Amino acid sequence: MNNTLHKLYIGSFFVIGIISASLLIINGHNYYSSPVSERFWIEQHNSLKPSGSIGHGLGIVGTLMMIIGVSSYMIRKRVRGLFNIGFLKHWLEFHIFMCTLGPVFVLFHTAFKFGGIVSISFWSMVAVVLSGFAGRFIYLQIPRSIKGNELSLKEIDELNVSLQEEISKSGIVSPRILDRVASFRRSVEGTGASLGEAFKSYLASGREAGSILQQLRAELANTGTSEKKHLLKLVGSKLSLTRKIGFLKVMHRLFHYWHIFHLPFAISMFVIMLIHVAVTIIFGYKWIF
Ligand code: HEM
Ligand code: HEM
Repeated sequence: MNNTLHKLYIGSFFVIGIISASLLIINGHNYYSSPVSERFWIEQHNSLKPSGSIGHGLGIVGTLMMIIGVSSYMIRKRVRGLFNIGFLKHWLEFHIFMCTLGPVFVLFHTAFKFGGIVSISFWSMVAVVLSGFAGRFIYLQIPRSIKGNELSLKEIDELNVSLQEEISKSGIVSPRILDRVASFRRSVEGTGASLGEAFKSYLASGREAGSILQQLRAELANTGTSEKKHLLKLVGSKLSLTRKIGFLKVMHRLFHYWHIFHLPFAISMFVIMLIHVAVTIIFGYKWIF
């Protein structure tokens, strides 16, 4: 997938997400914002209640989206025969899209009533989604190839050296900035720092990187736009990689804990949802079938 195609791919996720959420809000805000005791008298009750034609459908579509989003990523990540089908990072983007919009549909399915045992499934879903965003942040802090696979330490070092060389070769960046870029190193590895201290140091390194880029932007004020953009991107990548190297062990540790946290909520959501679906079928709710 080239750059333009990738932008279209991500753009289509945003467009579908924004249009779907807007339609749900425009169509149902009157119903969803009414007190539960008064909803029975509202015309849309029959379609928007959790067992209504639209409400029930949203539960089914949202749940299917989550099932497809989770299983497709897990299968693509694990089955050797599928390793060549698309980049792993694009499958993760699909996972994030399906598992963000799916829960939005389920939220409208509940009609904002969170009663009964199925509320455990609902709140587990909320926990998985919120933790997903934290996981995405940690995931991005671990250096990866263009395909989204984790780089080995040797590959990271090689990339770091080649970026530094490319910046030096440009001949435009002043020695002052070259020096700042080369000596930009903030790491908590081997210091026995707590997670809190690591986080503070991480923020500080972000501020320092920002200040280097600001200085570079000022120095390149009279340089051509495309060259300026290219150099800012290059220096930005180098600083970002150096930061990632400095916090690699911390991020690996965090990602390990994150997986331990993320999975049980996903399992509890699916298990209780299955019981919920079985109960609704036993009670005769069959949607449009
Ligand atoms: C993670 C997925 C799901 C969650 C979190 C969820 C949550 C809920 C909640 C909170 C309610 C409202 C309970 C109340 O009235 O207080 C509800 C009702 C309902 N759900 Fe789901 N649901 C999910 C998936 C599904 C699916 C896949 C189906 C159908 C196959 C379904 C069918 C229904 C039906 C028929 C009702 C109405 C039951 C009644 O009025 O007694 N739900 N759901
Ligand atoms: C109901 C919603 C979600 C469910 C049920 C879910 C479930 C899962 C599961 C089971 C995994 C483990 C996959 C594996 O190890 O192969 C996973 C991984 C992951 N999910 Fe989700 N997820 C959800 C939403 C999200 C969201 C909203 C995000 C980001 C914004 C997200 C980001 C991630 C990331 C970064 C990984 C780690 C990928 C890796 O280690 O390769 N997830 N998710």
